[in-house]
Amino acid sequence: MLNVTLINHPLIQHKLSIVRDKNTNTKEFRELVSEIAMLMGYEVTRDMPLKEVEIETPMGIAKTKVISGKKLAIVPVLRAGLGMMDAMLKLIPSAKVGHIGLYRDPDTLNPVEYYCKLPYDADERDFVILDPMLATGGSASAAIDYIKQKGVKSIKLMCMIACNEGIQRINEDHPDVQIYCAAIDEKLDSHGYIIPGLGDAGDRLFGTK
Ligand code: PRP
Ligand code: URA
Repeated sequence: MLNVTLINHPLIQHKLSIVRDKNTNTKEFRELVSEIAMLMGYEVTRDMPLKEVEIETPMGIAKTKVISGKKLAIVPVLRAGLGMMDAMLKLIPSAKVGHIGLYRDPDTLNPVEYYCKLPYDADERDFVILDPMLATGGSASAAIDYIKQKGVKSIKLMCMIACNEGIQRINEDHPDVQIYCAAIDEKLDSHGYIIPGLGDAGDRLFGTK
């Protein structure tokens, strides 16, 4: 069975439709990617463990719950993953942030690393990787490799648009990693772009094309 969770909440589907539209400008694109990330983050964090605590309210003692267990780290894959980072930090302000810089070689489509900085206590944290696009899966697989090299045991991959090729690649390379996405698109074109997708996520997010 494939380790993929499709988060198809109506608000996410609606916002994703606007993000896909070629007429959506950079400002709107950036805002919507962030909003989608926050809505997805709600589901991605659904299994966070809780512990019972007693809180003194103005009226008495409430037996209630707070998040417990391992702390979280988030890792945006540069560049486009940066568009999802602020939303996740709003949900989990105490999360630490690692950065992995990768770009796809346009000829081979293989990921080329140019930066990797992860929290010093990575092995004590659960990780969520952020990248809006899962195309061939090469970039996400490499990002997971770097994080595993630090001794990390629990990694989730959060993307907006995936396709079967990328999902299968991650399932083969990293069967322990759960993928969360908001859409699974039809196919890749000959340049490794997701069809219909949304185009080049980094360029649309930062206005570089
Ligand atoms: C995009 C995207 C992913 C990668 C997905 O980044 O943000 O990281 O492509 O493709 P893959 O699954 O085939 O590896 P890109 O290489 O365009 O870099 P950029 O965000 O810096 O523009
Ligand atoms: N990277 C993108 O930004 N878009 C795609 O469709 C594929 C890879």
